[in-house]
Amino acid sequence: MNHLHDVALEKAYRLLNHGPVTLVTFEHEGAGNVMAASWVMPLDFDPPKLALVLDRNTYSRGLLEGSGTFVINLPGRQQAELTLAVGSCSGQAQDKFAQFGIAAQRAKVIQAPIVPGCLAYLECRVIEEPGVQARYDLFVAEVLAAYADERAFSKGRWHFPDDELRTLHYSAGGTFYPTGNPFTVTMPAGVDD
Ligand SMILES: Cc1cc2nc3c(=O)[nH]c(=O)nc-3n(C[C@H](O)[C@H](O)[C@H](O)COP(=O)(O)O)c2cc1C
Repeated sequence: MNHLHDVALEKAYRLLNHGPVTLVTFEHEGAGNVMAASWVMPLDFDPPKLALVLDRNTYSRGLLEGSGTFVINLPGRQQAELTLAVGSCSGQAQDKFAQFGIAAQRAKVIQAPIVPGCLAYLECRVIEEPGVQARYDLFVAEVLAAYADERAFSKGRWHFPDDELRTLHYSAGGTFYPTGNPFTVTMPAGVDD
């Protein structure tokens, strides 16, 4: 039986939208902010780079263009409501840290707040690509520091020991999926790991 059905092209991004949802934090000239971002992806190993799509209409965009730095915070179940909230309102007219009771801590190597209790953090500095930024709202950045909750990520791998310590995937309409249970397959003979 064929279960494939056509997906409206304007919804096609949702087929790829399962990377862990993130909270992105910024600071420029004393003003801080936090927003949600799903459109984040790794780009290179060494030096480590990632890409972030950041809408030109957000308040965060000005902070990012001003400071050239940001932190990717990886929320778990405890931060799901917060993720939806900070991704649904603007920091232009309000301090989201105060409004949502976020006791922000400081990033390690850049001047920015981080959201406490997240599973991992990547501190980033933008590599200027003005044409790409202007045309596609896409920011390429080098990862300057990374740290993670050792209960969930150790020896270079995620473990997700329990429901609270799993990254989240945002679908739509307030629905999140926690990263699921693992299974392991055997490498075919003759293929290097
Ligand atoms: C789960 C979720 C994921 C989101 N992903 C992105 C994203 O990848 N890029 C983006 O520009 N906006 C994204 N948004 C929307 C921003 O978080 C939203 O516009 C936010 O209000 C911007 O805040 P600001 O105006 O304070 O910067 C997302 C929102 C949610 C709820």
